[in-house]
Amino acid sequence: MIEKVCVIGLGYIGLPTAAIFAKAGYHVLGVDINNKIVSTLTKGNIHIEETGLRKVVTEAVQSGKLKADIKPAPSDVYIIAVPTPVHDDNTANIDAVIQAVQSILPYLRKGNIVIVESTVPPGTIQDVVVPMLKKAGWVLENNDIYLSYCPERVIPGNILHELIHNTRIVGGYTREAASESAKVYRKVVKGEVLETEAAAAEMAKLMENTYRDVNIALANELVKISKKLNINAHEVIRLANKHPRVNIHQPGPGVGGHCIAVDPYFIVEKAENEAKLIKLARDINQSMPSFVASHVKLLISHIENPKVALLGLAYKGNSDDIRESPAIQVYRLLKNLNGIRINIYDPYIKQENINIDLVSLDKALSEAHLAVVLTDHKEFKQFDAQLFIKNMKTPVIFDTRDCISLKNNGIKVYKIGHLKEAEEMTENVIKSRKMKYKVNIKKVKKN
Ligand SMILES: NC(=O)c1ccc[n+]([C@@H]2O[C@H](COP(=O)([O-])OP(=O)(O)OC[C@H]3O[C@@H](n4cnc5c(N)ncnc54)[C@H](O)[C@@H]3O)[C@@H](O)[C@H]2O)c1
Repeated sequence: MIEKVCVIGLGYIGLPTAAIFAKAGYHVLGVDINNKIVSTLTKGNIHIEETGLRKVVTEAVQSGKLKADIKPAPSDVYIIAVPTPVHDDNTANIDAVIQAVQSILPYLRKGNIVIVESTVPPGTIQDVVVPMLKKAGWVLENNDIYLSYCPERVIPGNILHELIHNTRIVGGYTREAASESAKVYRKVVKGEVLETEAAAAEMAKLMENTYRDVNIALANELVKISKKLNINAHEVIRLANKHPRVNIHQPGPGVGGHCIAVDPYFIVEKAENEAKLIKLARDINQSMPSFVASHVKLLISHIENPKVALLGLAYKGNSDDIRESPAIQVYRLLKNLNGIRINIYDPYIKQENINIDLVSLDKALSEAHLAVVLTDHKEFKQFDAQLFIKNMKTPVIFDTRDCISLKNNGIKVYKIGHLKEAEEMTENVIKSRKMKYKVNIKKVKKN
């Protein structure tokens, strides 16, 4: 009988997971190596922004069902949700997974269920976790320990809902492990719980995000083609997606977050010669921050000491998540330009969580020559044209997310999918300035 659940890693995945098990009545111990996170949770507070999470965590802590500590304790189920970033060479860094498995070894008892939720390269359960458990004396083929891989596929901003309602894939090292682990999820999940092998579950998780990365790369490539051919890529995508079996994704300033921007590399690492399309898609998406930065430069090229407002730093709308954020890369590419002044506004990110200065919206827009929308926060979609007209020196917006819908004569919005007109505008301004200059020279000469 399952009474105690221990969740290792209390981030965007681990904390909501711990919270829903606690809400379902289990005694949950959340474990994190970060002392600050543990003390924040112990007080019933949370350290990440996620819809509805504060209430569930506070209630769970107050009821005594959710506790936090820096080290594990004996439990019936161990769920590992620690980070798996990439090294500088884009290979997976699974050190935290290894440390997490190491940390539970002293507490394991026969019949325990161990589930890895962290995203890992294909074969990690078989090649890394299984040997660790075997070395500790457990015979997994006999189901001494039920070992499974169960990936997460939630969307930040709606994690609590999706944790419960999404279909889950449970890949067991043995058939019995899949079955026992699936029973755990069925206690809290209302969606389907599919049982399979660990390696298939690992690869399914990676292919989900790779599918999206490749599709976004296609949209980003269309942006570049459309600029060359002077076509509106947004209109093309809208029309093409009317086909009943076509779903081209949205272009943007690049791909961020801990999943889509990272997971495809885990496949490339294991099958470099075969994963050609996957690698190319990564390269295309990685090129987008510099594509955006070069068009910001273009749009301000005729302005002396330009002031630019960057709107949104999070990698996706309605979230404070800045991991791998392309908006931050855009900022880094622009910040050292000669004479440029940059102000950044993001309504979701708390200043204490980022070492880049943020300002209020009014301050960011005040006297600005260009506003660059880098994140599709819902507040940005409701922007009023007057805000830009009143505050900015020149009310010009570069919308890299196609999320601004301002129709006003006093304002100019350039969309990432229709940049030829931005180029033409800049060329015209520069040309007209040269003409004026020539006229002026003649005037000076006459005088
Ligand atoms: N965030 C998402 O939307 C998402 C979606 C699907 C899958 N994933 C995957 O889930 C895993 C966790 O992601 P996340 O977003 O929750 O990460 P996160 O960085 O938000 O949180 C991870 C937490 O684990 C803690 N930690 C690190 N090493 C530890 C250890 N040895 N013992 C205990 N705690 C440790 C960190 O201090 C941190 O608080 C990753 O593999 C990620 O790729 C994330």
